[in-house]
Amino acid sequence: MKRHLISAADLTRDDALLILDTAEEMARVANRPIKKLPTLRGRTVVNLFFEDSTRTRISFEAAAKRLSADVINFSAKGSSVSKGESLKDTALTLEAMGADAVVIRHHASGAPHRLATSGWINGSVVNAGDGTHEHPTQALLDAFTMRRHLAGAPDGGPTRHQDGPGDGTGRDLAGRRITIVGDVLHSRVARSNVHLLGTLGAHVTLVAPPTLLPIGVETWPCDVSYDLDSVLAKSDAVMMLRVQNERMNAAFFPTEREYARRYGLDATRMAALPEHAIVMHPGPMNRGMEITAEVADSDRCTAVEQVGNGVSVRMAVLYLLLGGNEPALSENRTEENK
Ligand code: NCD
Repeated sequence: MKRHLISAADLTRDDALLILDTAEEMARVANRPIKKLPTLRGRTVVNLFFEDSTRTRISFEAAAKRLSADVINFSAKGSSVSKGESLKDTALTLEAMGADAVVIRHHASGAPHRLATSGWINGSVVNAGDGTHEHPTQALLDAFTMRRHLAGAPDGGPTRHQDGPGDGTGRDLAGRRITIVGDVLHSRVARSNVHLLGTLGAHVTLVAPPTLLPIGVETWPCDVSYDLDSVLAKSDAVMMLRVQNERMNAAFFPTEREYARRYGLDATRMAALPEHAIVMHPGPMNRGMEITAEVADSDRCTAVEQVGNGVSVRMAVLYLLLGGNEPALSENRTEENK
């Protein structure tokens, strides 16, 4: 693996599978009475958040703490960034604190890349979402969730709501059909998922109104459709994207009602999915817009499970970037070699 995680496109199939397999090991820690490993004791992880976040931020914090790292949470609001301090000066401050890893979310696409290549800091950089560009750990937790539900047993068909990663025959998502629906234009989640799902062998279809698809989407390794109803029956998972009003500077669709009618997932549409198929959402959800409350609260919707899986996946990423080569889950460690 590389020293930084900036883009899902940087991950080879082996890298991605190593992260997903390591995350399965980490998930076992969550079932223990004491959910903590000594692996990153003495290391410092800084969460550098220039943009609002609930799930990503708390799950990176929980992940670093479960690995016993020291965690510094930095949010731009209430810091010297509101006084006009630059990314460079902020980064130099973090370096002076001895940050071993910087987890960064920024409204500007490319900010994590700048941090990783600037020489301002020596630690690993993890992209927690940059503008409309990428969100690689979200794609990894989505793949982890899909693998748990859909991988393995290709003959008998995938099973829904199983506890483990299938029977081990499906380490990747080869041949699975994933439909990603909605505001692709503004979605770093969609972009990272298209890269990673392609690497893992899945077949991706994007569904959106033409106004919410990025220029050049025809060069992406996926299909594009404007008609949600025509793809549902062939989907193993359908991922609903939030309509990102805060990034919209124009009218991209006539009315919210019209959008929901054509591109929203309601109970009738959900019934058109194959029995084993799951409904995903990265959160936060606009209930009544891209997804109805009935679908969001149904047992086919994995939104809450995705959040839980996010902790295991982020533990795996931090461990692999910082932890080195020793096993994460050694049962027989002595005090000296912990
Ligand atoms: C996403 C994000 O911030 O990119 N959310 C998340 O990380 N769970 C998607 C979104 O904001 O709609």
